[in-house]
Amino acid sequence: MSTKPRLFSGMQPSADSLQIGNYIGALLQWREMQTTNDAIFCVVDLHALTVPQDPKLLAEQTRKTAAQYIAAGIDPEKSILFVQSHVPAHPQLAWILNTITGFGEASRMTQFKDKAAKTGTDSASVGLFAYPVLMAADILLYDTVAVPVGDDQKQHVELTRDVANRFNSRFGDTFVVPEPVIMKATARIYDLQNPTSKMSKSAASDAGVVWMLDDPGKTAKKIKSAVTDDDREIRFDRGAKPGVSNLLTILSAFTGESVPALEASFAGKGYGDLKTTVADAVVATFDPMRARALELLDDPAELDRILGRNAERALAIAGPKLELVYDRVGLLRRS
Ligand code: TRP
Repeated sequence: MSTKPRLFSGMQPSADSLQIGNYIGALLQWREMQTTNDAIFCVVDLHALTVPQDPKLLAEQTRKTAAQYIAAGIDPEKSILFVQSHVPAHPQLAWILNTITGFGEASRMTQFKDKAAKTGTDSASVGLFAYPVLMAADILLYDTVAVPVGDDQKQHVELTRDVANRFNSRFGDTFVVPEPVIMKATARIYDLQNPTSKMSKSAASDAGVVWMLDDPGKTAKKIKSAVTDDDREIRFDRGAKPGVSNLLTILSAFTGESVPALEASFAGKGYGDLKTTVADAVVATFDPMRARALELLDDPAELDRILGRNAERALAIAGPKLELVYDRVGLLRRS
């Protein structure tokens, strides 16, 4: 038994490749946290199904997501890295939690309201509505203490806490009540072509999005074509200079140097110098990761074996917890 605090986080397999935003906003921070925590990372394919997915692509995107996490330094021997649908205890616990979650409290989730508004609430699926309850099940199965998430997921972790407390007081102490760990907001990365909106895998154009699996030439070209502004000063100012500020944020994340130190080192230099330096830094980090990810994807049987072993490790924790829950709510045991 590890004495380090248990950490759980998840990512959706909703694109072929991770982009700089995921890398800096989540992966880089997870990689650091796995040394000080007993960490579990889950590719949440069941969550991905809450919006339409192409059945021909989903399995492959799941593999690709896992491969990139390993390539970027998530260690599947030390941490547990597994695919959500491989451990049926997740939807099984989610069902139980559905029965103690209020329709009203689920209706107040802002992510549901935003997503449902896009199609109209009437055509939003029950799955989309229950998304946060499945997320609560993910977290609660593992006696999770810390849940690193972006700001947008904080409300879901609060719901998880409420549901855990409710279950504990109704059925006896069963779940650890987790804490959200909000990942650094300074790490927010914007689209290179449209530096006031978040870099996103669903951006209208690919030109402003840098992918881990892009080839290095393409990455460098995208960075060198980033939108900046008409003056010449390399200075962090999100409001007046969103493009330059974004490049400084990226450079800071990839080099570990602070933004003020970078501003000082670029005094008197031009945007061309800044872009070249950013491109070199991103390529230097991503290129070996890309190579490792492609190598893993080249041998899908071995990758699937890694994921299979990790699902077993996850099940060893989640299985007994689900049994306890079934007992607590009074379900008849199968003999
Ligand atoms: N909802 C999270 C997101 O979109 C992903 C997720 C699913 C998750 N289950 C989780 C995150 C459990 C943390 C813990 O980012």
